[in-house]
Amino acid sequence: MTNRNTTPASDSGDAVASLTEYYSASQLRSDRWINLKSACTRLAGAADRGPLERRVRNLLISLEPIEFYWAFPSESAWKALWQLLERGQFEELSRNVSLIVRALVSGSYRRRTRQGSELDDDLAALEEDLRDDQTDERTKVPPYFEVLIVDSLTPAQQDKQRHALQRARRSDDSFIYEPVFVPSFEDALIAALFNFNIQSVVIRPGLTGKSRNQIEFLRRYIRRIGGRELASYDTEVWQFELSRLLHEIRPEIDIYLVTDESVEVIAGLELRGCRRVFYNQDDFLELHVNIQRGVDARYETPFFNALKQYSRRPTGVFHALPISRGKSIVRSHWIGDMIDFYGINVFMAETSATSGGLDSLLAPTGSLKLAQEYAARAFGAERTYFATNGTSTCNKIVVQAVVRPGDIVLVDRDCHKSHHYGMVLAGAQVVYLDSYPLNEYSMYGAVPLKDIKHRLLELKAAGKLNRVRMLLLTNCTFDGVVYNVERVMEECLAIKPDLVFLWDEAWFAFARFGTIYRQRTAMYCAETLRDRYRTPEYRERWQAQQAALRDADSAALLTERLLPDPDKVRIRVYATQSTHKTLTSLRQGSMIHVRDQDFKGEVAQAFHEAYMTHTSTSPNYQILASLDLGRRQVELEGLELIQKQVETAMAIRKAVNTHPLISKYFRVLNVSDMVPAKYRPSGVDSYLDNEGAWSEMWDAWSEDEFAIDPSRITLAVGATGYDGDTFKNAVLMDRHGIQVNKTSRNTVLLMTNIGTTRSSVAYLIEVLVDIARELDERLDDAGGMERRSFDHKVRSLMQELPPLPDFSRFHDAFRANDGSTTIEGDIRSAFFLAYDESHCEYYMLEDDSLEQAMQDGRELVSTSFIIPYPPGFPILVPGQIISREIVAFMRALDVKEIHGYEPELGLRVFSQAALDEQAIKPGSVGQ
Ligand SMILES: Cc1ncc(COP(=O)(O)O)c(C=O)c1O
Repeated sequence: MTNRNTTPASDSGDAVASLTEYYSASQLRSDRWINLKSACTRLAGAADRGPLERRVRNLLISLEPIEFYWAFPSESAWKALWQLLERGQFEELSRNVSLIVRALVSGSYRRRTRQGSELDDDLAALEEDLRDDQTDERTKVPPYFEVLIVDSLTPAQQDKQRHALQRARRSDDSFIYEPVFVPSFEDALIAALFNFNIQSVVIRPGLTGKSRNQIEFLRRYIRRIGGRELASYDTEVWQFELSRLLHEIRPEIDIYLVTDESVEVIAGLELRGCRRVFYNQDDFLELHVNIQRGVDARYETPFFNALKQYSRRPTGVFHALPISRGKSIVRSHWIGDMIDFYGINVFMAETSATSGGLDSLLAPTGSLKLAQEYAARAFGAERTYFATNGTSTCNKIVVQAVVRPGDIVLVDRDCHKSHHYGMVLAGAQVVYLDSYPLNEYSMYGAVPLKDIKHRLLELKAAGKLNRVRMLLLTNCTFDGVVYNVERVMEECLAIKPDLVFLWDEAWFAFARFGTIYRQRTAMYCAETLRDRYRTPEYRERWQAQQAALRDADSAALLTERLLPDPDKVRIRVYATQSTHKTLTSLRQGSMIHVRDQDFKGEVAQAFHEAYMTHTSTSPNYQILASLDLGRRQVELEGLELIQKQVETAMAIRKAVNTHPLISKYFRVLNVSDMVPAKYRPSGVDSYLDNEGAWSEMWDAWSEDEFAIDPSRITLAVGATGYDGDTFKNAVLMDRHGIQVNKTSRNTVLLMTNIGTTRSSVAYLIEVLVDIARELDERLDDAGGMERRSFDHKVRSLMQELPPLPDFSRFHDAFRANDGSTTIEGDIRSAFFLAYDESHCEYYMLEDDSLEQAMQDGRELVSTSFIIPYPPGFPILVPGQIISREIVAFMRALDVKEIHGYEPELGLRVFSQAALDEQAIKPGSVGQ
């Protein structure tokens, strides 16, 4: 018989090695259990049992090294399975395996009220709990988690510790937990990476170094997150190094050190992420209390709690908001169904009060202040601000707070429109940056770092670096292109050491909680860089580079990975996130996260004003409470939700690309379709075709200039003969009730999120099969004409795509007349110049009057933002010259929706007189 503690390394190596083939171990684990269940069922009814028995045995062996990192099923249940197999009790084995699989799949193992200690007690208890699970009992069971205990212990010692922790439990504990024991440094890292149930880690002095499992990919990963070869550490510092690395992998979890080091030694260490140090190895009661308290600190939702309490208080309302406590509804003869639909609690929690435990968003001092501080902790920020009007508002707040009129801002042109409006409001001099185009799909990628550096060096050469204030980029883009945030900031800071960064993470709030994603988030990189620049090793590297680059020309500076001056550099980073887009929050719930060394000295006052400018004095409390709850959720189950989300996305990818019928008409774009090879030194071109998905994704995310968010799937639909927009509206939505958002001419974007379920994926696949089948039938029955027309449509969608136009330039009337060649422009003057209708003229797109005017030497300048949907970003901004490429692009677009363009009137441009007048206005531009 074999059990978890006696598994020989050779049996386990294979299973753990195959972890690399999966995005997450939980997927591998559930696949193995499901295979085991079906093998056991067949074994129970088979006549020739030999081969099936071997299969069951092998599956059990291959599961063992994975189960080693999880608390359920318990050691005793696991032994029971082996015993049943050894004794030939196959029916019983099959029944028990089915029970475990049910508990794992439904998550009901977390709602067990009893844990077994004898051999099959555990399963009997589980069966009972599964029955309870059908009832409302589940809601009363406290939340469950697992505590990782890192120590090299015998089974008897483990039992002793398990019982000591069980004895410490109290009836009023807020949570229940089970310990998971691992012996070594490496095993602790594997467990923390893959077991999302782990909320606390106890590192005891007896830990060993290496895992018995062969885990080369893990060693590479450890090196990447700043760890070294295990052999290079003294064994005395293993505990502290482990604490540091665990904090890197899972910054949200609580780490406890149990040590026999002297207090003086411990006091001298920087123990990041360590919640408490214990000197008494056997004080399990104290440990238990701390574990509970640690999780409670994340569970706590100050504003939501305050709102709940407020809603229970009897109050008379002599103020605005008749809907408060549902008063205006319950007595209504006409809108009673509002309460039927929403339930009364929403209205009980509707109030305009800012006292009684509630707080004011505009000047928070109580529960909202705390809620924002907790959010800052969770998202790795120094300070966090809630917003109830979406990231559109957050973007304007940050831009207004940081940018002064005349400051130069570098912006990706295909950014969200709130930024363009922000530039107008702030009076910025805008340098638009072009993203690399993906002409085949009518989509943009993101802005290459070389281009950003080129613009900065150009501004430096023109003596304008002192006016450059901000770099503003979208990360990730709508389509899932992700910047190498750390590298972008590092190299830009080498040119302009106090540059402020605004990362629009509208689509990336979840990223902090995914182990692969986190390294490309603004707050994480800001912290990493700040730490790095303080070290003597960095200073030496920088000095060496300075010496090497002494006579470098700008071509060399463009290719070299530049390092900033550690004495001058300031880390000034802002991120805006639509919490509601990727996490749990009511619509419009967003956050601004800040890590700005100069915030207090330079920005605080302006930030306050900007916040006041854009924030309602009646912010919606339900949105704020949902932000508080969304934060709680992601701090406690973010890793699990994101792992599952990516697994779901991988399942869609696989189904589309391998299903014979679906793959005839649809294709999921690969990494190589969306990121040109020159930006992918890792060479990874797909997350799916190859084995080793997990580790390859790591390579791509840590090395490449651009990575692709695997949770987003761009589906090429051109081969169906439908354009993206028609496919989205007429096919997916109207016929099948499937909602997608973004499209390009020949693609639709399928976004998974933390709420995407396996059944919605199954439905999507079913629908794609239906559509493909229908197309097959239609084409089978088609006559020659119809077939030709279909082929023509497909060709037009797949091949005859107008090239995406670059930003042309601002007209000279909106550029500084200083003889320089830098490209910044005064969008604000152009925007307001167009308020006077007498400054404007119109040209029809349909005739050749535009060309005629251009041929006559006229520079046509847009008065407004022209935004076609798709692609959804401005192809013209106020003050921009209308190039022939842009006209060609507009003509070729067959979209119905173009904001800023009225077909009956034509393209609105400035009159020559208005431009002439603007050009001679004293001090109008960039002074
Ligand atoms: C990149 C980007 N930034 C900002 C926003 C605006 O976010 P919100 O809808 O939260 O106002 C969006 C909306 O789609 C977006 O795509």
